Amino acid sequence: MEVIILSGPEAVAELATDVIVALLARQPDSVLGLATGSTPMQTYGRLVDRHRAGEVSFADTTAVLLDEYVGLPAGHAQSYRRFIERHFAELVDLPEASLHGPDGFDISVEAISTAGSRYEELLQRVGGVDLQILGIGSDGHIGFNEPGSSLGSRTRMKTLTDQTRRANARFFDDQLDAVPRHVLTQGVATILDARHLLLLATGASKAEPLAGAVEGPITAMLTASALQMHPHVTVIADDSAATSLQYGGYYRETYRHKPAWQSL
Ligand code: F6R
Repeated sequence: MEVIILSGPEAVAELATDVIVALLARQPDSVLGLATGSTPMQTYGRLVDRHRAGEVSFADTTAVLLDEYVGLPAGHAQSYRRFIERHFAELVDLPEASLHGPDGFDISVEAISTAGSRYEELLQRVGGVDLQILGIGSDGHIGFNEPGSSLGSRTRMKTLTDQTRRANARFFDDQLDAVPRHVLTQGVATILDARHLLLLATGASKAEPLAGAVEGPITAMLTASALQMHPHVTVIADDSAATSLQYGGYYRETYRHKPAWQSL
């Protein structure tokens, strides 16, 4: 795991954007895994700016979502698909047909019970994820793999914890009852299949879960800790999110002396 600690959310977004732009310059037909939530928003904004400046194209790129609420009507402003469309996909040249997400909209028993396996097939069909952007929940989740999720899990339906629903209520006018209880999420093992994982963490509320993920024991009680098993993880955190890292000074030193030839 490479841990990079930067001054604030802007610097985190700038570096994350650079990593994605560099990947697409090397491999324009990459498969990008997109997380939703507040953390990657600035990165998406910067990608849009870089696209408008003619520095990056998504015309050959495929984008796959990490998760989706279950039971919102298709087109709901807070569905993760709509969220990514509004803040990113519709603002760049990503073809509409190249954006995929788990189908949490059709909640018939037949559809919802097969939505996970259908999404796994889709991920296989597109050739797997080249770069997966991740945030981390205040309870240490990645995707919506809440505490207790199997580290061997694949895409399936999960129940959100009250802590996560409360955290997400801000997207639903602070109406807790409006936050869906269920989601379809890539499993921990699904996430670990991506070739490069880019975990972004900003703000003091992420300090404890980030320390658990990077330095704690690998445990289903904090599913981001499973990233320790992946051979290519880049963690980009700001100072506030890094305060509980025992080896923060060492990570800073390592990055400061990173050889110029060594890309992320
Ligand atoms: C979102 C997702 C979640 C979020 C996490 C952090 O697609 O899978 O794991 O990344 O809940 O959310 P924010 O960034 O809003 O703090």
